[in-house]
Amino acid sequence: MPVHHPRRVLVTGGAGFIGTNLLHYLVPRWTDASFVNLDAVTYAGRPSNLRSLETSGRYRFEQGDIADRERVAALFDEHGFTTVLHLAAESHVDRSILDPLAFVRTNVLGTAVLLDVARGAWQSADGSYGDVRFHHVSTDEVFGSLGDTGMFDETTPYDPRSPYAASKAGSDHLVRAFVNTYRFPAVLSNCSNNYGPYQYPEKLIPLVILNAFHGREVPVYGTGSNVRDWLHVEDHCSAIERIVTTAPTGSTYLVSGGEERSNLELVGLLLDLVDDRLGRPRGTSRRLIRFVLDRPGHDFRYAIDGSRLVADLAWSPTRSLERGLGETVDWYLANLGWLDDPQDESYRAWVRTVYADRPSA
Ligand code: NAD
Ligand code: DAU
Repeated sequence: MPVHHPRRVLVTGGAGFIGTNLLHYLVPRWTDASFVNLDAVTYAGRPSNLRSLETSGRYRFEQGDIADRERVAALFDEHGFTTVLHLAAESHVDRSILDPLAFVRTNVLGTAVLLDVARGAWQSADGSYGDVRFHHVSTDEVFGSLGDTGMFDETTPYDPRSPYAASKAGSDHLVRAFVNTYRFPAVLSNCSNNYGPYQYPEKLIPLVILNAFHGREVPVYGTGSNVRDWLHVEDHCSAIERIVTTAPTGSTYLVSGGEERSNLELVGLLLDLVDDRLGRPRGTSRRLIRFVLDRPGHDFRYAIDGSRLVADLAWSPTRSLERGLGETVDWYLANLGWLDDPQDESYRAWVRTVYADRPSA
């Protein structure tokens, strides 16, 4: 039985990777809800990803900055949101090493502005709230780095180690402070590495697929022994839906794909899939692998014990990594033109300087 019924939904960062997938997932499902997508359209945002939703009559795009209080307040006044799905963020660890303040501004200040405006719009004079809810989407990186064993769970202490992770940890703390201080009706989720369609090719999986397609080098940081837990983005979307509609106010859930792989293993799987799809002999693309200088402060391993979400809300992922990677490779090869500006030359030049030009020992 749902505890929250979304009617007028604000999605922040909906033109990015997860936001795009989430809107494609929810708009056809929540048929009595309307959606506003507030997105600043940074390098990572592509409003055109969502053009097909415009015919629904229940989806609207608004270009704007979540840290712009007046703008956010005006949107709350105009639309009377019942539900906020907060995804807008600077999301790439390597960029946070280059420009940490951009991460603090959007991830910490932007989240604070949204919380403050939502509380002002939602809280009655007697301190109560109606059927409204704020879902803060966060990351397992706030918990730091694991060794070869162990897993994060909802009780793991925070230990963020990159500027990105620290800014997401700051935003998580603000959300919990609002829950504690104002009884603000928020829920939080911290998930592992997502993959799937519409991911900007600065992240490992689309970068490997596209570089292999074009015959470009595939940079593997350090020795490639770092481990990530991979979650298909559509499974993440179904988890968000379950949590925002049924989780108790103030609760946190960790969302895992249950698919741990070392980077080198994952890259090998992807390169073989690309070879298969392009009719090249297996092993052709593996020759493109180049071991490069490690990411500074590179977290060794992330892994999530997702059993609380299974036990409390009966949610589990449905995509195996094998199936999800195959579908993902097919999607990127069939949609080579989805990015109108795939180059982002200043960033690529920076990456080449910091990582690619200095081979690891
Ligand atoms: P993304 O970088 O693909 O998209 C982020 C979106 O936010 C972009 O459309 C961008 O234009 C927008 N944005 C950035 N700054 C903004 C601002 N100031 N105001 C309004 N919009 C702004 O990111 P993603 O991978 O889709 O991640 C979405 C959320 O999920 C983030 O909060 C991220 O921390 C979290 N998360 C991502 C992953 C993952 O593996 N991708 C895993 C765990 C958590
Ligand atoms: O764990 C959740 C996090 O996953 C999210 O919060 C972040 O928003 C998301 O970007 C992701 O962070 P990672 O740093 O793990 O993702 P990325 O795709 O950048 O890198 C995955 C792993 O691959 C990591 O160990 C670094 C390595 N890597 C990455 C790139 C881009 C390489 O070896 N070579 C590369 O070129």
